[in-house]
Amino acid sequence: IRRRKISVIGAGFTGATTALMLAQKELGDIVLVDIPEAEGPTKGKALDMLEAGPVQGFDANIVGTSDYAETADSDLVIITAGVARKPGMSRDDLVNINAKVMRSVTEQVVKYSPDSILLVLTNPVDAMTYEVYRTSGFPKHRVIGQSGVLDTARFRTFVAQELGVSVEDVSGFVLGGHGDDMVPLVRYSYAGGIPLEKLLPKERLDAIVERTRKGGGEIVNLLGTGSAYYAPAASLVQMAEAILKDKKRILPAIAYLEGEYGYHDMYLGVPTIIGGNGLEKVIELDLTEEEKQALDKSAESVRKVMKVLG
Ligand code: APR
Repeated sequence: IRRRKISVIGAGFTGATTALMLAQKELGDIVLVDIPEAEGPTKGKALDMLEAGPVQGFDANIVGTSDYAETADSDLVIITAGVARKPGMSRDDLVNINAKVMRSVTEQVVKYSPDSILLVLTNPVDAMTYEVYRTSGFPKHRVIGQSGVLDTARFRTFVAQELGVSVEDVSGFVLGGHGDDMVPLVRYSYAGGIPLEKLLPKERLDAIVERTRKGGGEIVNLLGTGSAYYAPAASLVQMAEAILKDKKRILPAIAYLEGEYGYHDMYLGVPTIIGGNGLEKVIELDLTEEEKQALDKSAESVRKVMKVLG
């Protein structure tokens, strides 16, 4: 039996936070990777985290590097490398810069860890996951994007605040691309097993849906520079845990679709089962006409970004 190995590419705000949370949960040994120009700070962050181990009581080795050879034989590779959104910038503005980063990172990762599962966070994440998929040549179940866990977490936060109840008892359901036209499905969202539609008036739910859709932008505007990273890191770690512990969790994830929900050859956020084999299944649900229209609109936005990539 050996300890799992997890590489986190991009040692910025999200990557570093993800690495620390992975270590705190003892999910494996961690290799934090960034560009050669950032090698000192990357090594420094990794060593600093390692030194938190004795205090917090976690056993996980953490190293920082710019050399992909050190990532060899990773079980899971989490990709957060790239440029973060600035105020006034849409996620889509980032597309060309980050696509180039995805290609170079993926080539290196795949060379050293041909059997790994790849989990992508870099925005615009639906299109970036597609880019990683086609660069890697990996089967679709081993290339997954994160957005739904985060979007759902935002939705659950706002609902719990509104009802004055525990976040633990609130479940949500978000479909579609990680953009302002994502589709939070109130019909499938509950608090303590009670449908939210029975607990909150429609206009309050509509307001929460709207705030969820703009949740990323709300943080970007408050931060001034950079974009959200605590909740994104927590979301990556939940997916990582589902994979590394083969939990078979039902989580929203960005999956490669081959006909599911009527879409072909694209990545989009849908309900899935996540376990030791990665994205093990896409769960297909009947949607109302209105929901399907909203999902079509969201898929169309993702397609537009994919077109930029050619
Ligand atoms: N290889 C490795 N690391 C890279 C590369 C590359 N080719 N290009 C950039 N990076 C690194 C940067 O040096 C930086 O340390 O990626 C890191 C990004 O970190 P931040 O700028 O702090 O951005 P962060 O907030 O972590 O967001 C990263 O996640 O949520 C998304 O939209 C967000 O796409 C963005 C990503």
